[in-house]
Amino acid sequence: MTATHRPVPGERHVRPGFLHSEDDGIRTNGFAEWDRLLRETPRFESDRQTSPEPNRLWYLLGHDDVYAVLRNTELFSSRGFTHTDFESDYMMIPSEYDPPEHTRYRTILNPFFSPARIADREDSIRAICRELVGNIADGGSSCDLLDDFALRFPTSVFLGMLGVPTENLDTFIEWTHRSLHTSQSEDPDGTIRDAADRAIHEFLWEVALERRVNPRDDIVSHLLDCRVDGGRPLEKKELLGILYLLFLAGLDTVSSMLGWSFTHLANNPSDRQRLCAEPAIIPSAVEEFLRYYSIVIMSRKVTRDTDAYGCPMHAGDRVIVPLATADRDPDAFAAADQFVIDRSPNRHLAFGVGPHRCVGSHLARLEMRIALEEWHRKVPDYEIPDDERSELRVGMFTISLEHVTLAWGGATS
Ligand code: HEM
Repeated sequence: MTATHRPVPGERHVRPGFLHSEDDGIRTNGFAEWDRLLRETPRFESDRQTSPEPNRLWYLLGHDDVYAVLRNTELFSSRGFTHTDFESDYMMIPSEYDPPEHTRYRTILNPFFSPARIADREDSIRAICRELVGNIADGGSSCDLLDDFALRFPTSVFLGMLGVPTENLDTFIEWTHRSLHTSQSEDPDGTIRDAADRAIHEFLWEVALERRVNPRDDIVSHLLDCRVDGGRPLEKKELLGILYLLFLAGLDTVSSMLGWSFTHLANNPSDRQRLCAEPAIIPSAVEEFLRYYSIVIMSRKVTRDTDAYGCPMHAGDRVIVPLATADRDPDAFAAADQFVIDRSPNRHLAFGVGPHRCVGSHLARLEMRIALEEWHRKVPDYEIPDDERSELRVGMFTISLEHVTLAWGGATS
């Protein structure tokens, strides 16, 4: 496609000190600011230090660049991006492995998350959702969508996949919150986060020990049954590295996407009315939410000196590729800046691309579809009260809303 919005080719851009998670423009204007950066400087470097070694940071924003970086695992490695560092040789699996080791773990995870296995779960997932929505709708005329629904729903589904009773739900939610959302000022030396991560690991290991004795039809029993490297079972740290990643990757992403989706529908009544009148468009609405509000910002490490994409990168530099800019790039999508509820085709990159493409995408889509179906059957009309506009939460890896207050049935707060 012809680039019409690009600056002069070959022009080199530097944004001194830029780091997206601390940038006022992104923290205030969110996706609109990513759009502006894409228009003005689709490739730029920052001298911001993000590790003890001297390195540079490169931002590649355009769709084709993002696509190419994520597929080139030989030049752009996923190593060393663990969320937690409370154990020295700890790896989140499979996300921190590059091929070919990565393939060993994807091969054992893929079957559990295949379209058919996930479709088998639809009834039980719908039952969880119905109960949550029923309690909210019967319990009043307003809620915090994130706290009351969007986090509880995927967390309950995850506990179900672990085969763990939902009486542990509140503890899990608290751990997730402490692990992912404790700010630097609340927890300068990381004690709160490490304690939460340790508690999550201890909990997961207890479940594993129990399943060794009493296997069931759940993910932990499946992983205990798997064999790698020609016949050995997974080691403890491998098992925990996988379960912990599933926990982190599956809960916050879905809840964040639901936050953006419901905020959009509250602010755009015509889209909401169409979705209620024609529930058959919900699957395509889900895809458009994923494209228009692509929350994940990915990082890779450069493995050797290169001039890829006209950028003189050195081994050890870090490349940031935000999926939001890829998915809102006018060179890749017609009317990219508009939300088109029945957009087709819609080949967005919200789940990534290449070997690390999201293993939970079928589950995520199902959860989002069921959430939208069940909620709108029960509460078709709602709004965000004027004094309840949400702040953005911009981290290194995602962009989310702090809270989403919804009111319905005449309630204004
Ligand atoms: C709407 C919700 C979700 C979004 C937007 C999302 C997005 C992503 C993206 C962009 C990646 C690629 C990361 C990379 O290339 O480094 C990824 C990987 C992953 N996701 Fe998701 N995800 C979602 C839900 C889930 C769910 C529900 C699960 C499972 C319970 C899950 C499990 C994973 C895992 C295990 C990986 C690592 C895959 C690998 O490295 O091979 N995700 N996800």
